[in-house]
Amino acid sequence: MQAVIAPDYGAPESFTLADVPVPEPGQGQLRVRITAASINPGDLVIPSGVYRAQAPLTFPHVLGNDFAGTVHAIGEGVTTYEVGDEVFGHAVPRALRAMAGAQPSLTTGTLAEYAIFEAATPFIAHRPASLTAIDAAALPTVGLTARALIATAEPQPGETALVIGATGGVGTTLLPLLREAGVRVTATGRPGDDDLLRKLGADRVIGYEDDYPAGVDLVLNLVLPTDQLRRAATVLRPGGRLFTITFPPPRPDMIDRDDIRFELVLDLDGRLGGMAGVADLSPTIAATYPLRDAVQALTGFAQEHTVGKLVITV
Ligand SMILES: NC(=O)c1ccc[n+]([C@@H]2O[C@H](COP(=O)([O-])OP(=O)(O)OC[C@H]3O[C@@H](n4cnc5c(N)ncnc54)[C@H](OP(=O)(O)O)[C@@H]3O)[C@@H](O)[C@H]2O)c1
Repeated sequence: MQAVIAPDYGAPESFTLADVPVPEPGQGQLRVRITAASINPGDLVIPSGVYRAQAPLTFPHVLGNDFAGTVHAIGEGVTTYEVGDEVFGHAVPRALRAMAGAQPSLTTGTLAEYAIFEAATPFIAHRPASLTAIDAAALPTVGLTARALIATAEPQPGETALVIGATGGVGTTLLPLLREAGVRVTATGRPGDDDLLRKLGADRVIGYEDDYPAGVDLVLNLVLPTDQLRRAATVLRPGGRLFTITFPPPRPDMIDRDDIRFELVLDLDGRLGGMAGVADLSPTIAATYPLRDAVQALTGFAQEHTVGKLVITV
């Protein structure tokens, strides 16, 4: 089968489309014929080798975590899915098992014609007919994260929020949820992003280096490393909340405040809802590419400003 592989640790320019064996499902696993897959920052970070000490990859490494597709074969003991079922979800490379929680959602890589997944995980679900395969492939990681942020931050009507990294996959999925919650949002963006960010739910758009609005109730950091949040922390009102989805994990000494909540939002076990409700979200899709152009899409994702998600159709 055709798959996008990293032949060794390296940058996206080293990725290539290759012919690799179709993976076989083991006990408790599904083989899915992939219809569409989407790109996430992790698809670049993992092959770059930054986690090689904790979780070494074997090569060729097939890329891709998010997917929509059709169940093609099931391993022994799988009762929740049948061949022919339409499914979608999110899974991480098997090498990152240690980062995959108690009910691991693991994959052989979704930027491929076929991929293997664990069946018993909260991060894979049946795809409702109302959701297209392209939207379903765009949504899992960003939808799970946006919903986890809302479940943790519990935004209240009339509150004010600063969203840093609003232009990304997570940000563009989160903005409509904040608007729905009645929150007045200041979103970061580049020149030219204004119209789209306002359409998604931002009341105001500022540049990355502009002054942040003072006295906000909530800061949601979707992009800056957690140890670079000192400036963001200063604009929270006393008692405000600062949530981040990036690493390193928050430590009190990273900010000069002891009167705010400062937490990482990371849901490895689906306790914040799993795929429930993800199908109801609306992704922002920047572009779709056929599998043969996936390396071009990955390179573009690394080098160019992308507002929303890139989807690969297989
Ligand atoms: N905790 C979790 O469960 C979880 C889940 C999903 C993702 N994540 C992590 O969350 C981060 C965001 O994910 P994503 O899928 O939304 O990524 P993404 O699509 O790459 O979005 C990041 C956005 O932030 C923008 N940006 C870059 N530098 C900025 C700055 N200084 N100020 C404001 N915006 C800036 C980027 O635009 P440019 O083009 O200008 O760079 C891009 O539009 C990634 O690090 C990802 O690994 C964590």
